[in-house]
Amino acid sequence: MTIISGKEVAAKLKQDIGAEVAEMVAKGIRRPYLVAVLVGNDGASQTYVGHKEKACHEVGFESKVVRMDESTTEEELLKVIDSLNKDPEVDGFIVQLPLPKHISEQKVIEAISPLKDVDGFNPENVGRMISGLDAYIPATPDGIMELLKYYQIETKGKHCVVVGRSNIVGRPIANLLSMKGYPGDCTVTICHSRTANLKEVVRQGDIVIAAIGQAEFVTADMIKEGAVVIDVGITRVPSDKTKSGFKLLGDVKYDEVAPKCSYITPVPGGVGPMTIISLMKNTLKAAKRRM
Ligand code: GUN
Repeated sequence: MTIISGKEVAAKLKQDIGAEVAEMVAKGIRRPYLVAVLVGNDGASQTYVGHKEKACHEVGFESKVVRMDESTTEEELLKVIDSLNKDPEVDGFIVQLPLPKHISEQKVIEAISPLKDVDGFNPENVGRMISGLDAYIPATPDGIMELLKYYQIETKGKHCVVVGRSNIVGRPIANLLSMKGYPGDCTVTICHSRTANLKEVVRQGDIVIAAIGQAEFVTADMIKEGAVVIDVGITRVPSDKTKSGFKLLGDVKYDEVAPKCSYITPVPGGVGPMTIISLMKNTLKAAKRRM
């Protein structure tokens, strides 16, 4: 059993991005510039945005966090998006999700210019990706593809079972893995809360992608011997053993599932660090539009 170290792969890819930025700067080209918009006080979102800001600094990007109050109206947020769309200095930006309940996430996503949509959530990017055209690929699915490539995990003809049908992870990764070429050529099944005989279906997976958002949902009896297990979950649960007062759990019951796997991603240190790298990749790609 091999533990997939997203931490290690992310560190390597971060170096590559940093080197490209240094090259740009040496040629007198302005550094890539990423803006993150954070509305409200969601604890996890503040942590994620902090990680994104730190990564920008490490690879040599300019970055800024626009912090807006929980009571921000949809109209106020759409105005900020409009000005970011028009700002020639800004290469790409994201609006951290989830948003406060009174703001329509879909409206916000659709307001972001597809050219600056480095999250790849705008329907134009989603449509382009599914059509196999050049697009910004959402960070988590892209991070998973990078891990499969790095560890040279065979995907051709494999049955990939994706558990979870979110627009951010489940649907896009299912699409990418069904595409022609490597890492792809999989036969893909998407499972969700209404799937009949879910355990039996997941047990057919040569590759299982767990993206349900429910801590330790996938148990050993759902996994075939020798499967590749990719755990996208990160649920914070209280813990008296850590300084922060919480610990992170994946969607997979790691201790009992790991011994059955050929490869598995841990939580933390698996998919998580890769998502940040993919956002950096997309921002670099956005900056290259002006080169
Ligand atoms: N919330 C959880 N994941 C993401 C992400 O990839 N992008 C944004 N904007 N919000 C998120």
